[in-house]
Amino acid sequence: METKILSTSEYDIALAGKIIAEGGLVAFPTETVYGLGADALNDEAVKSIYVAKGRPSDNPLIVHIAEKDDIKPLVKEVTPKAQALIDKFFPAPLTIILPKSEKVGNVVSGGLDTVAVRIPENETARELIKASGCPVAAPSANTSGLPSPTKAKYVIDDMSGKIDAIIDGDDCEFGVESTVITLATETPTILRPGAVTKEMIEAVIGKVEVAKAVLEGMQNDEIAASPGMKYKHYAPKARVFIVNADKEGYEEFVNSKQDCFALCFEDDNVIIPKVTFGKENDDLSQAKELFDALRQLDEMGAKKVYARIPNTTGVGMAVYNRLIRAAAFSIIDLTKPFFIGLTGPSGAGKGYVCKYLTELGFNIINSDNIVKNIYESNSPLLDKLADIFGNDIIKDNKLDRKRLGEIVFNDSKRLELLNSIVHPEVIAQCEQLAKPLSVLDAPQLFEAKAQNKCNVIITVMADKELRAKRIKERDGISNEKAMERINAQLNEEYYINNADYVIYNNGGDIKTQIDNILEDIL
Ligand code: TXA
Ligand code: MG
Repeated sequence: METKILSTSEYDIALAGKIIAEGGLVAFPTETVYGLGADALNDEAVKSIYVAKGRPSDNPLIVHIAEKDDIKPLVKEVTPKAQALIDKFFPAPLTIILPKSEKVGNVVSGGLDTVAVRIPENETARELIKASGCPVAAPSANTSGLPSPTKAKYVIDDMSGKIDAIIDGDDCEFGVESTVITLATETPTILRPGAVTKEMIEAVIGKVEVAKAVLEGMQNDEIAASPGMKYKHYAPKARVFIVNADKEGYEEFVNSKQDCFALCFEDDNVIIPKVTFGKENDDLSQAKELFDALRQLDEMGAKKVYARIPNTTGVGMAVYNRLIRAAAFSIIDLTKPFFIGLTGPSGAGKGYVCKYLTELGFNIINSDNIVKNIYESNSPLLDKLADIFGNDIIKDNKLDRKRLGEIVFNDSKRLELLNSIVHPEVIAQCEQLAKPLSVLDAPQLFEAKAQNKCNVIITVMADKELRAKRIKERDGISNEKAMERINAQLNEEYYINNADYVIYNNGGDIKTQIDNILEDIL
């Protein structure tokens, strides 16, 4: 099908209206995002919207009207609260849901017994509806799942060849879709936040609720109050993570990263490739630019994106609601230290895993180094050890590790005593080094009973023979000695059963294993 590109001239709008009246599809600008319109009362025309978008048929469409009274034939009753909202706001980026009349078919309502209605503020949109002479069903004019189009060029990208015409108008003023509120429930409930905020609505009709899925996503067994909630949304091709941090924390975090993009505010000091979405304390500017920014990231070929977190108040709630879906609910929370405990027997290759985690920007806390520092410093702890194990374990104000080793090796009581003195000090020092996103590299994590300090525990494991070979080569000792060391450690099952995740490092691809674990835990 050849898609006509039309202007906003009176002539072209009349032509577009005729196309809709005859059952065709026309994309048009609104103040929120571009819509893909068809005659809402023509089932066949409405069906073709679902086809062009690739949209699931149970996800209902918003019916657009041009005059306030045009809602009456579409609903069972215009309730007092509905009337109050209409009088106060319409035309506006606000959609109200009411029980539907018989006039509204099941295709447009996705099989529900309610209908969503709005009057757009954008003049071209209203002129088009008038020219069509019918209520116009219109979802956002994007391919289902992609960010909604805020510019005509994105509609052309998604819809060329699939619909009859596109009105090439201005960029959209608000940039996020309308607020959707249902008045078909006991307490009016916002199903999708937009530029008409909860506070603005409450000032007119009193208490309204916000559906839980707006900010937290759907639980697996939950029934969607709005079918749109359950589908994947606004997703660019890149994997997006929201970074919960203040400006400085965010900048420090992203500037230490490679091979990724920042999705940040205009004034952020970011040295990696970036796309911005508005200004820090200006939610309207963020709303206006977010979808455009997500599309730009795709055009730039971004694979991984770290986004700055918007506020969730006012229009910020709408911005956050879209961004959290684009990020598939992945948040890296830098406001709380997050500790990954990394352990495993010697020779399993923890070092290699740490190296990759460092590349990914994690702060690695190496407990072996901390032990070493304690032993090599003139700390009060050494005096305590000397009191217990004898003065000959101290040489030149340093611990003679070899001597101490001889004393505790093969004497489990003394080893336990040693650990009970050293481990708490090591843990305390590790905690002091804790920053957001830290990895505690601790071969003796379990022996030190430090599990509960960690949010998640990863064991690195390899076959016994391979571990022995690696120890032999690394430390230049015999196979026998290497085996002796291995056998003095916790057994494999213990490491595996007490970990949340196990990385097998037998020489294969471990980066993918790590990526998958991180995807899961972050
Ligand atoms: O700003 C907008 O609202 C844009 C422009 C074009 O007007 N339109 C738009 O439509 O965003 P769409 O189809 O992309 O999103 C409509 C949302 C969906 O999440 C849908 O599930 C929900 O509204 N919805 C529609 N009718 C509903 C109903 N009867 N009950 C519950 N949710 C409904
Ligand atoms: Mg949409």
